[in-house]
Amino acid sequence: MRRIASLLISVATMTGVAALMSPASGNADEAAAPYVTEKPAGYRDWKWIASAHEEGKLNSLGAVLGNPVAVKAFRAGTIPFPDGTIIAALHYQAVSSEENDKIFGQKQSIVPGSPTNVQFMVKDSKKYAATGGWGFGHFNADGKPVDAAFMKPCFACHAQFKAHDLVFTQYAP
Ligand code: HEC
Repeated sequence: MRRIASLLISVATMTGVAALMSPASGNADEAAAPYVTEKPAGYRDWKWIASAHEEGKLNSLGAVLGNPVAVKAFRAGTIPFPDGTIIAALHYQAVSSEENDKIFGQKQSIVPGSPTNVQFMVKDSKKYAATGGWGFGHFNADGKPVDAAFMKPCFACHAQFKAHDLVFTQYAP
C-alpha cells in the first residue's frame, strides 16, 4: 500500500513538473499571441515613409519603409490600414560622421552606423486578431527573430494610438 502511495505521489509530482514545463498550461492571458517570425521578402527595396531618431539609451536612427499596399494607404490616409499592409522599421546606431564633419568644419553630421534591428508590422486582421490585426516582428542584427516574451510589449504600447490604427509613423511628403 505504502509503495502504491509513493508511486502515486511520484506520478503526481511528474505531472506537476510536466504542467510547469508545458506552454499550454498557462491561462489564456499567458498564451503567446502569434507574431512575425520570418522577414518579409524584399523589404529593403520598399518605399520610404518617414525617418525617426530616438535619443537617450537607444541612440537610434530609423527608416520606416512600406510595401506597395502600405504606401498607397499612407498616401490616401486610409484608416484602418488594409490587410496586406507591411511596415518595416530599419534601425541603426546613430553615429557622428567624422568625414562629413571635416567637410562642414564643425560637428553636425549624424548618419546610420551599424544596424541594430528591423521591426515589422504586418496587417492580417484574421491571423493577428489578438493584437489589433497587426502581427509584430523584431529581428536582431544577426537576422534572427526574438522570443515571445520580447514581443509582448509591442502591442500594448502601439495600442495606445488607436486613432491611427496603432501606427505611430506619419507619412513624410
Ligand atoms: C513604449 C512604446 C513602444 C513599444 C513597446 C514598441 N513600440 Fe514600436 N513604435 C513606438 C513609437 C513611438 C514609434 C514611432 C517612433 C519611431 O519610429 O521610433 C514606433 C514605431 C514602430 C514601427 C514603425 C510603424 C509605426 O507604428 O510607426 C514598427 C514597425 C514598430 N514600432 C514595431 C514594434 C515592435 C515589433 C515592437 C516590439 C518588439 C515595438 N514596436 C514596441 C512605440 C513602441
